[in-house]
Amino acid sequence: MAEDQADHTIYPVPGRLLDPAQCPEPYISSMEQYKEMYRQSLEQPDEFFGKLATELLSWFQPFQTVQHGGLRHGDVAWFVEGQLNASYNCVDRHALATPDKVAIIYEADEPNHSAKITYGELLRQVCQLAGALRAHDIRKGDIVAIYMPMIPEVVIALLACARIGALHSVVFAGFSAEALRDRVHDACSRLVLTADQGRRGGKTIDTKKIELPLRASSTIFSESMNSEDPLFLLYTSGSTGKPKGVMHTTAGYLLGAMATVKYVFDYHPGDIFACMADVGWITGHTYIVYGPLGLGATTVLFESIPTYPNPSRYWEMIAKHKVTQFYTAPTAIRALRRLGDEWVEGHDLSSLRVLGTVGEPINPEAWHWYNNTIGKNRCAIVDTYWQTETGSHIITPLPGAIPTKAGSATVPFFGVELAILDPVNGKEMAGNDVTGVLAVKRPWPSIARTIYGDHRRFFETYLKPYPGYYFTGDGATRDKDGYIWIRGRVDDVINVSGHRLSTAEIESALIMNHAVAEAAVIGASDEVTGQCIYAFVCLKPGSSGGHYGHDLTKELVMQVRKLIGPFAAPKRIYLVEDLPKTRSGKLMRRILRKIVAGETDSLGDISTLADPSVVETLIAKVDGV
Ligand code: PRX
Repeated sequence: MAEDQADHTIYPVPGRLLDPAQCPEPYISSMEQYKEMYRQSLEQPDEFFGKLATELLSWFQPFQTVQHGGLRHGDVAWFVEGQLNASYNCVDRHALATPDKVAIIYEADEPNHSAKITYGELLRQVCQLAGALRAHDIRKGDIVAIYMPMIPEVVIALLACARIGALHSVVFAGFSAEALRDRVHDACSRLVLTADQGRRGGKTIDTKKIELPLRASSTIFSESMNSEDPLFLLYTSGSTGKPKGVMHTTAGYLLGAMATVKYVFDYHPGDIFACMADVGWITGHTYIVYGPLGLGATTVLFESIPTYPNPSRYWEMIAKHKVTQFYTAPTAIRALRRLGDEWVEGHDLSSLRVLGTVGEPINPEAWHWYNNTIGKNRCAIVDTYWQTETGSHIITPLPGAIPTKAGSATVPFFGVELAILDPVNGKEMAGNDVTGVLAVKRPWPSIARTIYGDHRRFFETYLKPYPGYYFTGDGATRDKDGYIWIRGRVDDVINVSGHRLSTAEIESALIMNHAVAEAAVIGASDEVTGQCIYAFVCLKPGSSGGHYGHDLTKELVMQVRKLIGPFAAPKRIYLVEDLPKTRSGKLMRRILRKIVAGETDSLGDISTLADPSVVETLIAKVDGV
């Protein structure tokens, strides 16, 4: 939504959250308190983050240096000299203190198949798998790929790797076998952990059989890791074809995860924390596994889909487990809103305090529905902006402190110094009421440290475009009140249902077909999924789509599903004669985006095209379908 059309109504913190008779006292309970802590986090970062890391994490050996290095050289380090283990922090210390506390509520695909796992049991199972990994000669620094559905074993697998100092590299189970293979090869993974099959929405999803013999449980001591030892890789799409193995390290990442669960979700002991993401994405890593378990919370692992067996599934689950924090993507909210309020009615949602969204901009209609119909105007709505690379939230409201606006991610989290840059000259745009590209001026603890095996690519993607800044790849506005509105990607990344996809990756999948000469992929807007994929495909001479065009488009969709995964499938494929390219051969996706959006009167300068007449032909093609 364009800034000038934005609704600037400010929604105050719901009174209930500040009433001690109704809710635990929020950690941050006023804008002034937020501002003061934010100021401290920037002016005295060593004191601020040193204190936080001492309070929230258990160390085998304390750190002496809070932060080191910076964005200019790409040598960021936090809590140097410290030794700790993420698995110890997420499991052992809670298993010792509260062994019978529920760590994981597994909400299985079939609603009546739920299970609970205590911290004591979690420790036993993590040790068992860690022992099996060691028996397979997996050692500190090795990489283990994990390709599993949303079952408790996936959480156990992450923590077992972390325990022995192996890096996990989770590949979302919706990716195809080919995509899995690429990621396993890129990371030189020594082992792939997988499961027989999973279930989603009543359907069985085959993965593979676990090969690992599990031995009787014995205590496997957790490796002592340096703060900067890598914890995991997570592959994500960039603007070029090859996915990037984003690498996070141990202490800074874990601190970011835990601090945001504490402050952004205002987590208090006894809360039931439910993040609906898949563990295969960063949201699942941070807000199903490391953040909540680090704090000793009860985390919900949801295997199903929001509409199975019917569209009340989320609301039934919230009522059943008395969920206090609920976190999902705008896509799910939009889809459920369309199905009607009757699916919400009659479910007791009174346990909820904080409702979060993530992954894409939330449109005001969806925001209001979430606030009114689900939150009954008595919950905080936190629109959390972050990325795989940021590790944890970087722009977000805080429940007890920050009044909200429908569709704005509001203000920066502690330690995050934002800048809106002029995309042309790279200069910082001071003050309010400015729009440009979103960047961060200094490192925060959970920023990714590198791209596995390719530090140069890390540097060139994030640090070089605007020297001294971390470049997010998103456009943003800082409005008249200083609130941030995320405008979406300024590169060739498409966001479908909060899943990040690269145009180049889908184009490469399309041109693998023998009939295809060239392909151009763009994101078009979609009411439910935010964006959807449109592909323009030129065929090789003699492969005219004419008589078998329909089958060919089907074949191409199948091909993308097979090479990447079903979620990357184009919604529409146009078979065209030619694509808009400059004389030097650069594809002008911008023109295709405008044509699809029907904005043909603002195509901009088309005189640089090798053949400007291609535009008329494309308009006729798109209009004619
Ligand atoms: O474009 C932004 C969008 O999602 C991108 C990051 O994608 P990924 O690394 O897959 O992580 C998704 C979950 C953290 C960002 O560059 N994005 C994420 N959160 C928001 C958002 N766009 C608008 N509002 C958000 N709250």
